[in-house]
Amino acid sequence: MNVMGIVLAAGMGKRMKSKLYKVLHPVCGKPMVRHVVDTLNAAGVGRKVIVVGHGAEAVQAALGNGAEYAMQEQQLGTGHAVRMAESLLSGEEGITVVVYGDTPLITPETLTNMIELHRTSGAAATLLVARFDDPTGLGRIIGAEDGTVECIVEEKDCSAEQRSIKDINAGTYCFDNKKLFAALAQVTNNNAQNEYYLTDVISIMRSAGEKVQGYRTKDNSEALGVNDRVALSEAEQLMRLRINRSHMTNGVTIIDPAATYIEAGVAIGADTVIYPGTVLRGATSIGSDCVIGPNSEIADSSIANGASVKQSVLNCAVVGPRASVGPFAHLRPGARLGEDVKVGDFVEIKNAVIDNGSKVPHLAYVGDAKVGKNVNLGCGTITVNYDGFDKHETVIEDEAFVGSNSNLIAPVRIGKGAYVVAGSTITKDVPADDLAIARERQSNKPGYARMLKERLKKAKESARSDNAKRSESTDA
Ligand code: UD1
Ligand code: CA
Repeated sequence: MNVMGIVLAAGMGKRMKSKLYKVLHPVCGKPMVRHVVDTLNAAGVGRKVIVVGHGAEAVQAALGNGAEYAMQEQQLGTGHAVRMAESLLSGEEGITVVVYGDTPLITPETLTNMIELHRTSGAAATLLVARFDDPTGLGRIIGAEDGTVECIVEEKDCSAEQRSIKDINAGTYCFDNKKLFAALAQVTNNNAQNEYYLTDVISIMRSAGEKVQGYRTKDNSEALGVNDRVALSEAEQLMRLRINRSHMTNGVTIIDPAATYIEAGVAIGADTVIYPGTVLRGATSIGSDCVIGPNSEIADSSIANGASVKQSVLNCAVVGPRASVGPFAHLRPGARLGEDVKVGDFVEIKNAVIDNGSKVPHLAYVGDAKVGKNVNLGCGTITVNYDGFDKHETVIEDEAFVGSNSNLIAPVRIGKGAYVVAGSTITKDVPADDLAIARERQSNKPGYARMLKERLKKAKESARSDNAKRSESTDA
């Protein structure tokens, strides 16, 4: 059967107190409404209409072409919002799933089960029901004698008795498409908020003799609607644990899931171990048998099998198989490490390729560079890439050796197998197999250290005795 979807995303979300439209607030790095649309796709929903209003352009930009859009100029309520999809969908036969854009935790499994129950039961509506100890602010489910649903009453319209009901409307529904739009035409705004409530279609369908049933969630967190920042943090935490659990199920060791932050789009291979304080963001992919963390932030980067990243920050970087990064390294955009590369502590790499087997073990800056295979860059090596106006390239060929505390003033090339002596400031290319030395020649002055120390000692003593004399004369 034809399954369509409507996502309500037109509200501003006043309670968020934000410049960003509510449904665009990210949960684990992904806008809430994107979670909802991805879930609809995973549950096999075909045509999707997103109802947009506040921030319509931003919402469309976030969701792209995978859906159709209906404009709700004025936010007159959830029932009014669904009617905005009428001109697009009213001609269709089938099931229409309606989901609010602020409920990011609904799962594909629940939606699939709901659709299946709806399909086989002949109900006009099937809605997601949860039982909350604290149902404050939510629509209450008024049950019928036979265990089906009689109606939904919004909290502001509840009697004292209704308010004590703990069964709530989670805001996810399956409708018979034709019956949905027929019922919506009868919804009025005769209520405490003067809004056209979608929830009113339930009692309208009941009055028409239709069946309306609830589907209970096994997991209450699915029913979480994000109206403010407190709920946003709850959603973030629940989603984070869910993401972490799925990685663990796939064979990833996460030492402390409560202290590990993995965004929704990240891929991780089996037998990788993630230590606490690790943040994996964006389009990051991590291979198998890696060791990541503790305390590392990796965004939009790709880490190959067997690599390790400890106490480091990576952004748009590529790390090759078995490479080791950190502790305290910073890989910036365009850093590309080959196989078995070692990048150690206090090393910054930007827009530079470090080829297989090369080492940058400590205290170095490598920017705008091509470093060949089996190169060793000593402690304190700096590619001097910027003259205040332009960036210039440094090329270091295979098997070169750069001694500690060397400045390589770009543009410059260190040839294959060449040797740069420690402390050099290299301004000219070094041909292959040559040795470059570019530093002041050392000279030793025999005995000078002793003489200098004696002179300084004497000067200090005579200053002390002068001071003593001065204070005696003032005492007298
Ligand atoms: C709604 C339900 C309530 C349910 C709760 C679950 C109604 C009347 N109430 O209340 O029964 O328990 O969700 O979380 O449906 N929106 C529009 N256009 C509008 C109004 C809202 O697009 O004119 C969108 C909002 O952007 C939001 C969603 O619909 O994403 C839900 O609206 P919201 O105001 O958050 O409804 P609740 O008060 O949470
Ligand atoms: Ca809400």
